Amino acid sequence: MTMDAVKLVEVGARDGLQNEAQALPVEIRVELIERLAAAGLRTLEAGAFVSPRWVPQMAGSDEVLRRLGRRPGVTYTALVPNLKGLDAALEVDCREVAVFAAASEAFSQKNINCSIDESLQRFQPVLAKAAEQGVAVRGYVSCVLGCPFSGDVPVVDVVRVARELYAMGCYEISLGDTIGRGTPGSTRRLVEACASEVPITALAGHFHDTYGMAVANVQAALEAGVRVFDSSISGLGGCPYSPGATGNVATEELVYLFQGQGVATGVDLPALLEAGAFIDKALGKASASRVATALRSRASNQ
Ligand code: HMG
Ligand code: MG
Repeated sequence: MTMDAVKLVEVGARDGLQNEAQALPVEIRVELIERLAAAGLRTLEAGAFVSPRWVPQMAGSDEVLRRLGRRPGVTYTALVPNLKGLDAALEVDCREVAVFAAASEAFSQKNINCSIDESLQRFQPVLAKAAEQGVAVRGYVSCVLGCPFSGDVPVVDVVRVARELYAMGCYEISLGDTIGRGTPGSTRRLVEACASEVPITALAGHFHDTYGMAVANVQAALEAGVRVFDSSISGLGGCPYSPGATGNVATEELVYLFQGQGVATGVDLPALLEAGAFIDKALGKASASRVATALRSRASNQ
């Protein structure tokens, strides 16, 4: 990828909706994803094959994946915590999945009910089977800039998990600031440390906006060489096992941010705004995207 383009990974239908009090029906989730793909997003998380007792909002992910019309050049992905999840994803012909680990022990226990090392061991057979089936695997590291339960997380702990996921065969490592505590300085130091062990082209930034720092952190990561960013339509999101965490950086914010400096995203902003309006209406709430809010009020004043 050149200096002039970034890849956006749309996580709204997963990270976004997993944290809404109200579980949305399959039809709405499918329509949201279809609209986002039509707006130009090329990689979209469509669901999670996790325990429906842990995250009821993601129940029906199999049906979502089944109903999505295949589009050339578009990849629909899903989270899988174990082999059971991978098998469910394979069942609906999902061609890319993501495993998720954490850099904090406390978070690992709360989120996936096992230690960091146990999770890495659990992912080995997932990676092996996915490779056998020609399915690409992404790896998440949560709590890269702080943990909701244990506070500061040493950068070396993040680097170790990122390195191990990459060595195991994850083609991309998404660094998750789960609680949005990072600032541009800590983000830059994190990216530099991870890039000493994992190629920078294999790193992605996943910033939650709890402290309003997400756009600044994306810019810091961009300047440090990262070219892949996760974002969520309308700024939806959070993690059910991360108390107080709010949504991901809004996709609208990133498209506007990159457009402003001539970095291509392939996304059509007006179409994206419509997808945002669709999900805001379905959830009955106002957009968390300030770009969407500003552009809508400008349009209605003209
Ligand atoms: P456990 O209870 O330790 O699992 O949960 P278990 O293996 O002992 O199984 C218990 C029950 O779960 C069994 O059912 C299994 O069949 C079932 P029962 O016999 O009791 O009826 N089960 C499953 N069901 C469906 N799909 C599966 C599956 N596996 C087991 N794949 C487990 C362990 C990992 C399953 C659980 O803790 C879990 O599902 N956790 C998911 C948590 C989650 O989804 N969190 C949000 C995503 S991570 C995130 O948001 C962060 C991220 O955005 C980055 C960032 O911002 O930092 C990615
Ligand atoms: Mg997240």
